[in-house]
Amino acid sequence: MLLGQLLMEANHITRKEVKRLLKDGSIQVNHQVTQDYAKVVDPAWMAITIDGVPLESDMGHTYYIAHKPQGYVSANKDAQYPTVLDLIEPKDNPGNLAISGRLDRDAHGLVFLTNNGQLHYILQQPKFDIEKTYRVTVNGLMDGQMIAAFQEGIVFDDGTVCKPAALDILTASEQTSTGIVRISQGQRHQIKKMFLACGVKVTDLFRQKIGPMDLGELPEGAYRPLNETEKLAIMNLFLLYNRRND
Ligand code: URA
Repeated sequence: MLLGQLLMEANHITRKEVKRLLKDGSIQVNHQVTQDYAKVVDPAWMAITIDGVPLESDMGHTYYIAHKPQGYVSANKDAQYPTVLDLIEPKDNPGNLAISGRLDRDAHGLVFLTNNGQLHYILQQPKFDIEKTYRVTVNGLMDGQMIAAFQEGIVFDDGTVCKPAALDILTASEQTSTGIVRISQGQRHQIKKMFLACGVKVTDLFRQKIGPMDLGELPEGAYRPLNETEKLAIMNLFLLYNRRND
């Protein structure tokens, strides 16, 4: 789509007004001022701002953060258990939302839902190492050795070496410990397997953040659309991905 056209449609302004904004240097695409009305753009992949404010239009895309309770599955449908999609009221569900960044049924916290297929695809790519932050409770001692092992890269029994991860211990005893883990890897049961490799079992797993998205105080079972700052941050992830794949 042409930049000029997009600006007219998204902001309900005339061609003349668009030309003035371009001439004034008010429009930035991917952090560069542009005066090119005919520049080909895709707002799903590019950060477009007017005087520093992200473009209003989502071009039909929906982005939600939801607070998954324990017992819900990260699937579109399930015969036995409620799914994360059941949290979304029918009036807010465009019908084609996909869950990016799944959580185990017994885990809780932030899940991200979108019908932006390109973004969903990127977030699933193992090489796109977006950081995720978890609060983890285990049935044993977290200690300095464990912090070092996480930093080094945990090695599973089958020889798989995990990417380095950060562990900050909040409370520690022989019976139970709690810590904050930051990982940029998302294999199935990643965190549970990492702690098991250290000899302890995860008893509670809560996700607080995915990249620029933070659950904050969103109550359990609730959801909300991304705010403009988060959307811009997500668009920047696109840029990062594109640059890495150039
Ligand atoms: N790691 C896990 O073990 N489970 C999750 O749900 C997410 C990360």
